[in-house]
Amino acid sequence: MCGIVGYTGTKAAKDILISGLKRLEYRGYDSAGVALERAQEGGTTLDVIRRVGKVAGLESELAGVDAASTCGIGHTRWATHGRPSMVNAHPHVSCDGRIAIVHNGIIENFAELRTELEGRGHRFASETDTEVFAHLIEEAYAQTHDLLAALREACARVVGAYGIAAVCADEPGVIAVARKDSPIIIGRGEHGSYVASDIIAVIDATRDVVVLEDGQFARLTPADIEYTDAQGVPIEPAVTHIDWDIDMAEKGGYPDFMLKEIYEQPRVVRDTLVGRMTAGELDIDELGLSMEELNLIDRVYVIACGTSYHAGLIAKNLIEAWARIPCEVEAASEFRYRNPIITPSTLVVAVSQSGETADTLAAIRDARIKGAKVFGITNVVGSPVARESDGVIYTKANKEIAVASTKSFIGQVVSLTLLALLLAQVKGKLTTGQVRMLFRELGDTAEQIQWVLDTQGEHIRDAAAACVDAHSALFVGRGMGAAIANEGALKLKEISYLHAEAYAAGEMKHGPIALIDPGFPVIAVATKSPVYDKTVSNLKECEARGARIIVVATEGDDDIREIADHVIYIPRVRDAFCAITATVPLQLLAREVALMRGCDVDQPRNLAKSVTVE
Ligand code: G6P
Repeated sequence: MCGIVGYTGTKAAKDILISGLKRLEYRGYDSAGVALERAQEGGTTLDVIRRVGKVAGLESELAGVDAASTCGIGHTRWATHGRPSMVNAHPHVSCDGRIAIVHNGIIENFAELRTELEGRGHRFASETDTEVFAHLIEEAYAQTHDLLAALREACARVVGAYGIAAVCADEPGVIAVARKDSPIIIGRGEHGSYVASDIIAVIDATRDVVVLEDGQFARLTPADIEYTDAQGVPIEPAVTHIDWDIDMAEKGGYPDFMLKEIYEQPRVVRDTLVGRMTAGELDIDELGLSMEELNLIDRVYVIACGTSYHAGLIAKNLIEAWARIPCEVEAASEFRYRNPIITPSTLVVAVSQSGETADTLAAIRDARIKGAKVFGITNVVGSPVARESDGVIYTKANKEIAVASTKSFIGQVVSLTLLALLLAQVKGKLTTGQVRMLFRELGDTAEQIQWVLDTQGEHIRDAAAACVDAHSALFVGRGMGAAIANEGALKLKEISYLHAEAYAAGEMKHGPIALIDPGFPVIAVATKSPVYDKTVSNLKECEARGARIIVVATEGDDDIREIADHVIYIPRVRDAFCAITATVPLQLLAREVALMRGCDVDQPRNLAKSVTVE
């Protein structure tokens, strides 16, 4: 997620913008920039100053800029469209340089708008989706000579998500702001008016803020703030008093980053799917492989590490079921030393949140030397995995801070599902109609996750209390359930230091069942699927030996209570998509157990977020 901050008042804008951007930096920092108004003889101009890298670099650059400006906007970027670079850094400006904007979110119809605007003579300087906003406002401003009215007109043309702040050299001291599906807060302080994408950026200046709602607009001046709806009719939004301390504010009011990131997962599903279905066709613009090349694929390897490897286990089920292509999933650290069978018709799918895991990168290089096509799934635009792959799908998880991966996993599973659908379509195994239907259902998982978050907290806490004193736990399931069990066990080990192991439920009788004694926790994924009855039989074997059974089950399944001590429900969902929904309670369960055991859930011992050594 990118960060926005803006200020108009009586103090030096550059200092306020830099301190705000530093507070937002934890969200992503591949570039940063500001636009500052400068009064000069003959009128006001805008100085736009941008730097690739962290805010400290921008700060040094601004040290040489005089502090006279009292109005400006700033941005710290986490790239989603266009690699991290100077030209792609915000603010973006209109052709005449008199309008500057900063934007968070994704503009779905930017390609059409760009073509249209270029057709009318607009020159684009970046690869970003954002820049269309600057040119749309420029056109509307030429008619209205009113920045807020021009912003309203621009927003009416844009499909997608935005939090946006704009300044115009012809309206000194004014910042126009809009929001749709991307947070914006606005507040008055002693020395002027403030806007930010997150309270953390301005918490020192104001604690009474308006949380802008979708479709609302604001015009900030040094002395005042006016709010309107999408038609320009004045409104009076409610003011919220924030009494969080800085630490709470960084976490958006959540007690830890892990919980914040778990709660972001519905958004991750939506954002990862934005722009992926155009005119009824799957659209993966960074594909890098032709349909002919994809059609020739006869073997897929998914290579990854840690949580990303588990996303691969889910993908194997989907690729084999839908596209009917044999798919193996391998730890990247094993793959490269194993001399796997690779031909020019092999597709290697490298999955990595950070895009820089050393084992995954080494495996990509090795696979390419051996002639495979390589496709990357990563969360970081322009990362080594993205650069070294033939094609890429970016998960739109935004920066993940907790070491144990949660929202990135969901973004990876959604992206891999898209890839599986694409392969199935290219191979003629699914019709366009089936792909569209599955795509729609994939989107529904956002609401299903929300339902779990909204309704299952108490059941998850009860189940956690049942595990907290255990020495070990088993996670079991069959089919998709077995793949999900792996991620559940990893989450629990990583953050609670409780030994946990995942097993295919049908394999329990060949060994692990010997571990079970009274009270031993067995955590099962037993959602309604073709293997539901088989899983229940396996659980009965555990019950007979005194295990304490916790089940993630499908809403409405009351029978499961006969064998389960604790039931956590997820909504009814197609088996192919159940990993997205059923993983969420396991993440929450691991977090609760870890907290009950006094562990730091964001920074578990011995682990690192990004592992750049082999
Ligand atoms: C580290 C992290 C894990 C992560 C793994 C792979 O071990 O602690 O959470 O799953 O690296 O990282 P990647 O960035 O390649 O997905």
